[in-house]
Amino acid sequence: MVMARSRWARAVPILFTTACVVVAAHAATPDEILAGYAAKAGAAPSAERGQKLFNTNFGRDYAGCAACHGAVPTRNGTDLAREKTIKPMAPAFNPARFTDAAKVENLFRLNCRDVIGRECTALEKADLMTWLISLKP
Ligand code: HEC
Repeated sequence: MVMARSRWARAVPILFTTACVVVAAHAATPDEILAGYAAKAGAAPSAERGQKLFNTNFGRDYAGCAACHGAVPTRNGTDLAREKTIKPMAPAFNPARFTDAAKVENLFRLNCRDVIGRECTALEKADLMTWLISLKP
């Protein structure tokens, strides 16, 4: 019994450390996620193109990304699909943005399909992120 307890005493910190390393592996900064798209884009990203894309109405269900996120997404937006508040998209106004590469990729896929009718290219994602990161208080 004493033996078992001391084994746990050693195992718990190891399990905790392992969990921390796994969590850290998924955390990223907006600049790191942007660099990943930029590397695949094959051209230099443009904030101007990103802003234009974000505000383009492709004539589908929603009048562009801006319909839910706001034209200049430094403030809360409204999820028109679920009637819920969406926190700002610009990372300077919402530190949780663009910190999870898998979430970012998943939501780009879903939202680009809904709004544009196809997935966004790596260059379009890099353009959008370059513009969003450029928005400062
Ligand atoms: C119908 C409403 C709606 C539209 C239109 C919309 N989004 Fe979103 N978007 C959401 C919601 C809801 C979330 C998830 C909630 C959150 O993260 O605050 C989200 C989250 C995201 C995220 C996740 C960012 C992060 O790291 O947290 C990205 C990227 C994104 N949207 C891109 C776009 C782009 C690009 C467009 C236009 C092509 C777009 N969205 C159009 C509702 C929308």
